[in-house]
Amino acid sequence: MKTADSGSTATVVIAIDGPAGAGKTTTAREVARRLGFKYLDTGAMYRTIALHVLRQGCDLSNPDEIARIAEDADISIEFIDGAQKTCLKGEDVSELIRSPEVSKAVSPVSEVPAVRRRMVALQRENGKSGQNVVEGRDIGTVVFPDAVLKVFMTADIEERARRRLSDFSRSGIDSDIQKIAADIEERDGRDSNREDSPLSRADDAVLIDTTSLSFEDQVEKIIQNFREKTS
Ligand code: DC
Repeated sequence: MKTADSGSTATVVIAIDGPAGAGKTTTAREVARRLGFKYLDTGAMYRTIALHVLRQGCDLSNPDEIARIAEDADISIEFIDGAQKTCLKGEDVSELIRSPEVSKAVSPVSEVPAVRRRMVALQRENGKSGQNVVEGRDIGTVVFPDAVLKVFMTADIEERARRRLSDFSRSGIDSDIQKIAADIEERDGRDSNREDSPLSRADDAVLIDTTSLSFEDQVEKIIQNFREKTS
């Protein structure tokens, strides 16, 4: 089995990348739960930096200011029963970072090379041992290019917007589907076109279009691909 490092304990990484709203988070978390792996949500790390930057009243059109303010962000992650808890200065911000304000700020923040360098180092540190499902945008291409399985999940924009709308209404956040679709498209555009480690499918990633797949099918497809790679 290919491993993410050359240490004696077998390190396993399943990399799950794709655009916003493709179903990565819920699917990756369930795959991790069924396999007994740790689940690492790298988007949550960028969101936490974005929350910090917003709280400091940073000018989001100024990458140098973002880099300077982000440097002071005291971000840490913990795993409780395999689930990630993301903290800013010791405060659990796992829910706060899902707000529409943070979702809007996160792309300009994650474009800044200094922010990415720090986050990639933190992600590698957390995935360097044990068995991990790691979800993000550049996991199979940059963070863990030796991942044993790489998956690129996608879905039609209408379906992705519908899913985000139901996430928001479950959390009691008011929104409408057109606005969500426009925000997602803007974010995907920025994430895909930035210079430093853009959202892209690794050549060896398995493509899963989730538009008309059930949740169970998505999870099963990934587990089946993993078993095929490792049997
Ligand atoms: O997966 P998410 O929607 O929580 O991610 C939030 C943002 O973080 C996403 O728009 C781009 C950025 N991101 C990134 O640049 N690289 C990653 N590995 C994960 C997320």
